[in-house]
Amino acid sequence: MKEKNKDYKNKKSKNNNKSRSKSNNNNKSRVKFNKKNNIKKNNIFLEADNIIITKKGVFTKNLTPNVKVYDEETKFFDNIEYRFWNPYKSKISAGLMKGLKLNLKKDKVKNVLYLGAASGTTISHLSDVLSDSFIFSVEFSRNPFIDLFLLSKKRKNIIPIFEDAFKTHCYFKFIPKVDFLFMDIAQKNQVEILEKNLFFVDKNTQIVLALKAKSIDVTKKNKEIYFEVRKKLEKNFKILQELNLEPYEKDHKIYLLKKL
Ligand SMILES: C[S@@+](CC[C@H](N)C(=O)[O-])C[C@H]1O[C@@H](n2cnc3c(N)ncnc32)[C@H](O)[C@@H]1O
Repeated sequence: MKEKNKDYKNKKSKNNNKSRSKSNNNNKSRVKFNKKNNIKKNNIFLEADNIIITKKGVFTKNLTPNVKVYDEETKFFDNIEYRFWNPYKSKISAGLMKGLKLNLKKDKVKNVLYLGAASGTTISHLSDVLSDSFIFSVEFSRNPFIDLFLLSKKRKNIIPIFEDAFKTHCYFKFIPKVDFLFMDIAQKNQVEILEKNLFFVDKNTQIVLALKAKSIDVTKKNKEIYFEVRKKLEKNFKILQELNLEPYEKDHKIYLLKKL
């Protein structure tokens, strides 16, 4: 009988150890910390408030519950509505899916400059995440600007600016130094537009450039264009990351930069 009890105890403790190590492994696969203590969850490096990261991608807490912006999927976590940040419709989300490392914590990012705001698809997610910040949003086409303007009526952290992002002299008075600059402008002179806006950044600003190769030159191979762009960027920026956005966006790269 004693032997039997011993056997049973041994078996039980073995099983306990097994299930403990299984649950540890599960935790490990859900949340990993890298050396700099950046949060890496499901292979997404994003430090931010108001987000849930699942295997599918990033969800942002809806700042305007029950109101959608671009017919995005919504989901409830603990009875709170979140909006799926669709990587096929937003280059920041695509970048995050490809390993872009961003810190969008509310206490770190107070002011944002967004160039090429369009109707506010991506901006709406930044607006969810940075609910107490100012997102200065520059757009020069009338129709998307009208949508952006209407969005800014519902989301008070969006400041719409109807201007050409190359003509910084038209809006420099309204915008302070920013903590995060994002540019998504498919023009031949994309890099030059970004350089013009260096006025608003300092050495700590996180700068993200979504670059469309074909807008620079349709006759050249993407590889050639990326090579030339890198040479140009290196004059004013430290390139921290350079990521191809496929399969989410064709002919696009995203760059994480810091001002030199
Ligand atoms: C690819 S769309 C941006 C999409 C947006 N980033 C999003 O994810 O919701 C590019 C936008 O840049 C705008 N744009 C292009 N050149 C511009 C310029 N020089 N100044 C301001 N806006 C510009 C276009 O009108 C267009 O709406």
